[in-house]
Amino acid sequence: MTVENEKKKVIFSAVKPTGAPTLGSYAGALKNWLAMQEDYDCFYCVADMHSITVTLSAADFRKNTLDMLAMYLALGLNPEKCTLFIQSHVSAHAELAWVLNCNTLFGEARRMTQFKEKSKKNPENVNVGLFDYPVLMAADILLYQAELVPVGQDQKQHVELARNIAQRFNGRYSPTFVLPEPIIPKNGAKICGLQNPKSKMSKSDDNHNDCVYLADEPDVIMRKFKAAVTDSDACIKFERESKPGISNLLTVYSTFSGTSVPAAEKEFAGLGYADFKKRVGESVIEFLKPVQAEYKRILADKTYLNEVMKTGAEKAARTAARTLSKVYRKVGFVQPF
Ligand code: TYM
Repeated sequence: MTVENEKKKVIFSAVKPTGAPTLGSYAGALKNWLAMQEDYDCFYCVADMHSITVTLSAADFRKNTLDMLAMYLALGLNPEKCTLFIQSHVSAHAELAWVLNCNTLFGEARRMTQFKEKSKKNPENVNVGLFDYPVLMAADILLYQAELVPVGQDQKQHVELARNIAQRFNGRYSPTFVLPEPIIPKNGAKICGLQNPKSKMSKSDDNHNDCVYLADEPDVIMRKFKAAVTDSDACIKFERESKPGISNLLTVYSTFSGTSVPAAEKEFAGLGYADFKKRVGESVIEFLKPVQAEYKRILADKTYLNEVMKTGAEKAARTAARTLSKVYRKVGFVQPF
């Protein structure tokens, strides 16, 4: 078999539109998605079904979903090269999730760190969906027989759960699912907040100064970087534990400028923190300039967005239906006439 005829590895990943995408979404996931679309068979979705574990107004939620798809395109994801779709447009996700629920142990779902953290943070809305969320995520991945799942550090445990569920199902019935593996970037796997550099930058956080959104206006981005928390050391060095603010800014700079962290340390040696923060802000603004122009253009072109959604959903649904039908046969559901 020649290399050209070899089947490309399948990639699956998603972002949930609970808010607008952030620098963290880009560094942890979207940057790798872009690189991978060149060589792999990629399925990237907007995980809208994952978003309703939190309360959002329907109007905001619809807007977030379309904004997210437009941002995928603006960043350079190409619907000719990869399959871009909205999760709820492919009903097989919910259907497979039910079967996988019956192959997931309560105890293993209960161990999920995100579930524990989110339940603690929002105790008045610990819904069953929040608990079951990693199983839906397993369904997303396994439907496409994805081998690789590019995600940030916080999703590693969920991908490992998907692998365990797949292994259990394969053992119980017969080989059905490809076992997925997470792909975590060396640099940028966990971008932290600008105000709280010890915790993850999160799009659904209430402190908007902590978080830089990819669609933020340049002056807003600069203001947030200028206000970033640092330390009283006056030394630009990567030391995650003792200098979380500076280390986080170096990681952001490296992600958006393409300079390695050690090279950035050299570049900024002797510079004051105020100038350093300004330079980091500039690197992000510079990177986002063409992306934001494209984003505005795409958002105004509803016909194009609809076309991308429709083509993507049809393509995803065809692949998903093959896996779901295999699963239904294996578990013993009577085949419809
Ligand atoms: P979500 O929407 O929270 O985040 C989307 C992706 O961005 C990464 N990420 C980060 N990486 C580095 N630093 C940060 N501050 C940061 N914030 C977010 C996340 O790790 C993730 O890769 N459950 C998923 C969405 C999902 C999914 C899937 C992912 C649904 N189905 C199947 C992979 C496969 C989520 O909530 O990601």
